[in-house]
Amino acid sequence: MESASPQSQLNFIIRERVGDIMSSEPNEAFFTPSHDSEHVERVKRIAIFIAEKEGADVEIVEKAAELHDIARNKKNHAVEGAKLAREILSAQGYDGEFIERVASCIETHSFSGGKRPESLEAWILSDADKLDAMGAIGVARAFLYSRESGRGIGETIKHFEEKLLKLYNMLHTETARKIGLRRHKFLEEFYNQIKHELEFEDLEI
Ligand SMILES: [Fe+2]
Repeated sequence: MESASPQSQLNFIIRERVGDIMSSEPNEAFFTPSHDSEHVERVKRIAIFIAEKEGADVEIVEKAAELHDIARNKKNHAVEGAKLAREILSAQGYDGEFIERVASCIETHSFSGGKRPESLEAWILSDADKLDAMGAIGVARAFLYSRESGRGIGETIKHFEEKLLKLYNMLHTETARKIGLRRHKFLEEFYNQIKHELEFEDLEI
């Protein structure tokens, strides 16, 4: 590791800790279709958009979005992801304050993690991640996740009640709430329609 480039140090740290995510080989333990690089890219794009509108630090938000699911295969992925992000960013030569600000966003972004964001940038990452679980993409990802975890339609609908339909009220920034409104309405529409069909109410003709 003596003369290793920052990129190869980064690859080494990630491979050691979470598996070979740089490989083009699918690694089911790390990236699953519901939480793949496309999800990360969408969250990054949404987060940057919100950051620009809200006057937040775009560089912090962008880096936090890139790394937010890096420990997705760990039990408390937000806390573990923050730890790993610190290692990665310090191997890449970022300064301590930048690292802490990014790590704090990652540590508090998760719906189930229970930690409240403490900065505008952290709220933006949390909002962007939630927006990607809403709307048509949210429906698609919910069923992908169900496939990954062996849930059927009934359990997926319970997931709508327990999580997805609550996300709109958890959005913090004005910009996210504007984007989220239509996505939330679509989730409600889908939920109502599938309940209607599951209860055979459309057989009453
Ligand atoms: Fe995410």
